[in-house]
Amino acid sequence: TWTASNVIDEQVAAIRAQVGDGLVICGLSGGVDSAVAAALVHKAVGDNLTCVFVDHGLLRKGEREQVEKDYVAATGIRLKVVDAVDRFLDELDGVVDPEEKRKTIGRLFIRVFEDAAREVVEEAGAHGQQVDYLVQGTLYPDVVESGGGTGTANIKSHHNVGGLPDDLQFSLVEPLRTLFKDEVRAVGAELGLPPEMVWRHPFPGPGLAIRIVGAVSRDRLAVLREADAIVREETAAAGVDRDIWQLPVVLLADVRSVGVQGDGRTYGHPIVLRPVSSEDAMTADWSRLPYDLLARISTRITNEVREVNRVVLDITSKPPGTIEWE
Ligand code: XMP
Repeated sequence: TWTASNVIDEQVAAIRAQVGDGLVICGLSGGVDSAVAAALVHKAVGDNLTCVFVDHGLLRKGEREQVEKDYVAATGIRLKVVDAVDRFLDELDGVVDPEEKRKTIGRLFIRVFEDAAREVVEEAGAHGQQVDYLVQGTLYPDVVESGGGTGTANIKSHHNVGGLPDDLQFSLVEPLRTLFKDEVRAVGAELGLPPEMVWRHPFPGPGLAIRIVGAVSRDRLAVLREADAIVREETAAAGVDRDIWQLPVVLLADVRSVGVQGDGRTYGHPIVLRPVSSEDAMTADWSRLPYDLLARISTRITNEVREVNRVVLDITSKPPGTIEWE
């Protein structure tokens, strides 16, 4: 029978068998998957694990601070924070195609992990050694949708599956590769991670880059980050977070429409709200959020984010729409 504690025992044994006393790093995204994967590996190999959190400039408001503070407090895991904002945004400059964005980001993550791995060896004074293992929080649906399952088309390259470079120097440790999200949450709870972490909504590794339809820039990221923060504040205040799977907020950066604010004409961008309900992200339905909540979100975004003059609601299920717009 499936129980979280059986999964933990099996995975801890499998991780020990795979990595022995080798050095391990884990890319932490702030989301539940990598948090649970890291906690499992920490249980298996203790301080041979270093977590790496990459600030790629595509994060939501407050996310970096939250990981720096809360995750370390909750787990005691050693954490290295890498500021790679310029590196990512320079490479993404002018990139519009969603798959190209995903692959660029996937490749850069690995390059940053390689650099971090060298520092880990130096800091450990482990001369002549290297970090051979990289932990990723890949779930079963990520594998399937990136074309890694049998008989499925490649829908999109999840950054940690289809976006990996060919010359990867690490062996991957992926203790969640056979699990669905609800199972990961159960494992996380069993491992003692705090509820805010276990119940966080999924957030994709490529971050806000795949929520800007069009090229990514610092200005566009700033607009989307503000709108997204308003949405998160309002859904939390309304107490609906547990009723929905996630709520991507998307900026249609290349679309403009005419509006009127005060007594002036505006020519701004639309923000799309994409609230979805789902069991495992393989299929989803659009969430029927209360109208008064939607109204508050719309009013606040158009009042507080100058570049946005229209808020629209995505009422497409998956299929045919995917959850993210890119
Ligand atoms: P889609 O858009 O394919 O998304 O319906 C399914 C789920 O996966 C998340 N997602 C990602 N997560 N790296 C991730 O870590 C990615 O590249 C990625 N792409 C999509 C998405 O947020 C949803 O929960």
